[in-house]
This record gives sequence, C-alpha cells and structure tokens, in this order.
Amino acid sequence: MNRKYRNTIIAANLKMNMLPSNIKAYAEALKPAASAYGKRCGIVVCPSFVLVPQAVKAFRDSRVSVGAQNVSQFESGAYTGEVSAPQLADLGVRYVIIGHSERREMFGETDETVNQKVHAALAANLRPIVCVGETLAQREMGITSEVITLQVKSALAGVPATKVRRVVIAYEPVWAIGTGLAATDTEAAAVCREIRTLVRGLYGARIARAVSILYGGSMNEQNTRGLLAQPDIDGGLIGSASLSPETLSAIIEIASHDYV
Ligand code: PGA
Repeated sequence: MNRKYRNTIIAANLKMNMLPSNIKAYAEALKPAASAYGKRCGIVVCPSFVLVPQAVKAFRDSRVSVGAQNVSQFESGAYTGEVSAPQLADLGVRYVIIGHSERREMFGETDETVNQKVHAALAANLRPIVCVGETLAQREMGITSEVITLQVKSALAGVPATKVRRVVIAYEPVWAIGTGLAATDTEAAAVCREIRTLVRGLYGARIARAVSILYGGSMNEQNTRGLLAQPDIDGGLIGSASLSPETLSAIIEIASHDYV
C-alpha cells in the first residue's frame, strides 16, 4: 500500500450469507474496530440486496460504508428482478462490487455488461469495485497478463479521467477464491503492479498513482500483513474471513498499520 497517494480499503463481500435479522449484531461487533481504525482504513460491507436497508441503518454514524454485490446496467424500467444504481444510491449505498468471478461464471456476466455496470454505478455516484482475475487454467497457460489486460481495459472503456479515480479495482485470481489457497505476496504484487501500469498507460501517472487496487481470494488474518506490504496492493476484498466480525476487525487493524 501507499497511503500517501491512495486510500486503503478493506471491503467485506458477505456473498449470499447472513439473514436480515443478523446484520445488526454483525454491525455492533464491527463498530469498535471501525471507530478505532476507520480513519486510516476505508471499511466497506457488502451484503445481499435484501440486507442493504438494515445494513445502512445499522452502520449509520459509523465509519463503515455499505456496498452492494451487484447492480443493473439499466437505470430504470421493465427489468424484473433487477436493482438499479439510483435505487442503491437513494438507500445510502456508496460502493458496488461489479464483475465478481462468481457472477461472470454462473450468471453470464461479460466484459461488456461489466463495463455497462461500471458506467451505471458512476452515473449514480456509486464507487464500483471492479473484479478481475484469471482462472487456474489461464494461469497455467501463461496468459494471466492477457486476461487481466482485457478485463481491465474493457471494464474502463469510455470511463473519463475525471471519474476513474472513483473506480476501485480488485484483483481476484479465480483459483484463490474460497479455496483457502491465496496467491503468494509476490504473485499478487506482480499482477497488481501490472494493473497499475495498465491504468498509467490509459490515464497517466497521476491517476494511476491514485487508484486503489485491492487483492481478493482467501485473504485472512494471517496473510493480510504480507499482502498489504506490497506497494501496489491497497487493501482487500474479503469473502469467507469477513463473515466473522472479529476476524474482519483483526484484518482492519492490520490494514491500519504503516508499511512504507
Ligand atoms: P474469499 O472470497 O475471501 O472467500 O476467497 C473473496 C471474494 O470472492 O471476493
């Protein structure tokens, strides 16, 4: 991380876990860490849509922002079952995860829909957390760079320089998600550095220096320190480990330290 130029962010991806009736207790358990470390580390909790209103209420007056896990690319209209960016923004949501590999793999999201969703989120003043990452087969074929380049370029297509600072990029190698097999510090650092270089090529050095790049994939209390010590890794997108507010609090504390 490099706190001088960009924000450190720890984002919890709760996925399809937790009941609406449990979010209040989760929030209470997380608040002490949020008030102790939230000044140095942005904290985002992303629950399922149905938990979002309660989450916004539970985290009101705390340093925790609420994010969603998906958003429609359309603004309003006849799209049964979808949730729009203006609807989320109106509720008080600040961030939205876009293009998570589970959505790309199981729900047909493509680089094109990811790009449309990034535009929809930015138009509603939400900060997109765009997920990119290679599969194990792609890594073994030696095409990680090509895959990441295509995903990042497509996601940012048409996003003007004035807005790109609001985009957070999460590098999540698909083989590391939910497997307990995180990328090594060196592997994660190399790809995150490449992503920053790519952003520099597209938008210039000043913007590239300001964009927060997160790592995600089996990040936990044990490996957070090593990952965040890498200059181009500015935080984490945490799945399994975020389900325990105690573990998430410990990760937030580690992320509030200085590494450079
Ligand atoms: P994980 O999930 O921490 O359980 O690997 C991360 C993610 O999918 O965002």
